Amino acid sequence: MVNYAAPEPYRWETSFMVFYERLDDEHKGLFQSLFSIGTNRDSKAALKKCQDLMVGHFNYEQGIMSRANYSGFKEHKEIHDGFIAHLSKLTTPVSDEEVFYCKNWLAQHIKNIDFAYRGKL
Ligand code: FEO
Repeated sequence: MVNYAAPEPYRWETSFMVFYERLDDEHKGLFQSLFSIGTNRDSKAALKKCQDLMVGHFNYEQGIMSRANYSGFKEHKEIHDGFIAHLSKLTTPVSDEEVFYCKNWLAQHIKNIDFAYRGKL
């Protein structure tokens, strides 16, 4: 697995394109929500929004993969489930270490895992 640089400032950029419009739009929202946690570490609302967006995105993405009989579905879903379990345990104020971990996780996930479904859904 390649270790990609997370963008700084932290926002979606075209190198993260998966070429499905809704998925790219949702990814943009995930970047924004993690950026927001980083700048509002005490905000329970920012944390909750990020958790909700992440669950919604993963569910939508899994639905598409499932309908396309995507061969990597099971492993991909397990990776999603693991991150949701991690995210659901976070509390405010969110630590520097956690903000870094989550921001980096999303960048690595899109490029190493989501990219594998490009052109297959
Ligand atoms: Fe776009 Fe697998 O998350």
